[in-house]
Amino acid sequence: MTPSSSSRPFHHPQPGSALHCGRVSLEALVKRFGTPLYVYSADQIVERLGLFQQALKGRDHLVCYAVKANSALAILKLLADRGAGFDIVSGGELERVLAAAPAAVGRVVFSGVGKTVAEIDLALNAGILEFNVESEAELALLARRAAKLKKKARFALRVNPDVFAETHPYISTGLREHKFGIDIRQALQIYMSVAGSRWLEAHGVSVHIGSQIRSAEPFGAAVERVSELVGQLRSEGIVLKAIDAGGGLGIDYHGGIFDAAAKVGEYAGAIERALGSFEGRLLLEPGRFLVAQAGALVARVLQVKRNGTKTFVITDAAMNDLIRPALYQAYHEIVPVRRRAGRPRVVDVVGPVCETGDFFARDRKLPPIEPGNLVALLDAGAYGMAQSSNYNTRLRPAEVLVEGAKARLIRRRETIADLLAPEIL
Ligand code: LLP
Repeated sequence: MTPSSSSRPFHHPQPGSALHCGRVSLEALVKRFGTPLYVYSADQIVERLGLFQQALKGRDHLVCYAVKANSALAILKLLADRGAGFDIVSGGELERVLAAAPAAVGRVVFSGVGKTVAEIDLALNAGILEFNVESEAELALLARRAAKLKKKARFALRVNPDVFAETHPYISTGLREHKFGIDIRQALQIYMSVAGSRWLEAHGVSVHIGSQIRSAEPFGAAVERVSELVGQLRSEGIVLKAIDAGGGLGIDYHGGIFDAAAKVGEYAGAIERALGSFEGRLLLEPGRFLVAQAGALVARVLQVKRNGTKTFVITDAAMNDLIRPALYQAYHEIVPVRRRAGRPRVVDVVGPVCETGDFFARDRKLPPIEPGNLVALLDAGAYGMAQSSNYNTRLRPAEVLVEGAKARLIRRRETIADLLAPEIL
């Protein structure tokens, strides 16, 4: 077992055996589907959704999975079938929900600072639950489109609560200096200014303070500020039906002891306390927490190369397949699929892309690894495939979903024909 088997589905059933995802051997999957390969545990994704649903069972709530974390159609369907809604940030993500789970469209919230007319129209016609509106100008645009299409638009203002949360600066969003949301001090006046609008319904208020936030406290602080606003609105006669507390709950990428149920419990507790007497519906938008630890990127080692004092393990996966280390200096644990005896070595694990930034790990102590071996990059289920690209004209990986003892391909490996198809010579 890996040290953190309780928080990840990847483990060695016996000391000498290959790494498994649940009951399925990664070696067997690579034989069928090749490398690089994303492998996800459906069972863990379902279990994680259940933790939120369980923790909030005493209150009217809806978990709107943040599609951006991993937008595979099969994963969207898996979650929709268990009652999840979705948080989307583009028309493209809405098309994904419509393709995977059309009946869930009434459980969709639409976030994002720059929605186009076409995206707004698509969402109005589809009948989504709520637009999370990020500026007064966007609210005016929404009102115009709703009037034009004769569809009432349910909206929430996404407020910026000016709460600091410890995370990487690229994924922190809840401060006044960030591009997100509307200053919470202006929100009351904006709600009041559209109170008589025929085509706008003030449905809720939303907040999202950032991603990969490990402590529950800032979530509580943000919702407390939102609750205050909801109270003020109520005394002005505007009764909101929903508070959307956003996403952002973090995981432990370092594989320490991590009790997912306890984390969700603390998080839900902090939000519950901050909601006070609010009787409407609580919406949540978790992405990473549901899918990150369920996934691994499996790669084959092409070469092991020494340059001066450094040893480089070169894999057939690269930054185009998983950009988190290059972009956020993110840590992903790397484990050999089959453990070999011998002394650990300090190595850099890198891909074949022509950039020094193309690395998965630097100066990492790893067990012995030889060319031809398989390695798994753990906690890659969120913002892995979703942020992949074709840089260096590399074909993106195939994706496999493991359910119980069964594994199935949910996205085939790209072909060169897929890549060249849109181009005109
Ligand atoms: N709701 C909104 C409005 C968001 O902007 C996000 C993430 C979420 C929900 C979901 O957050 P989560 O629960 O996954 O933390 N690519 C980065 C993360 C970017 C997050 C962007 N917004 C990474 O790989 O760490």
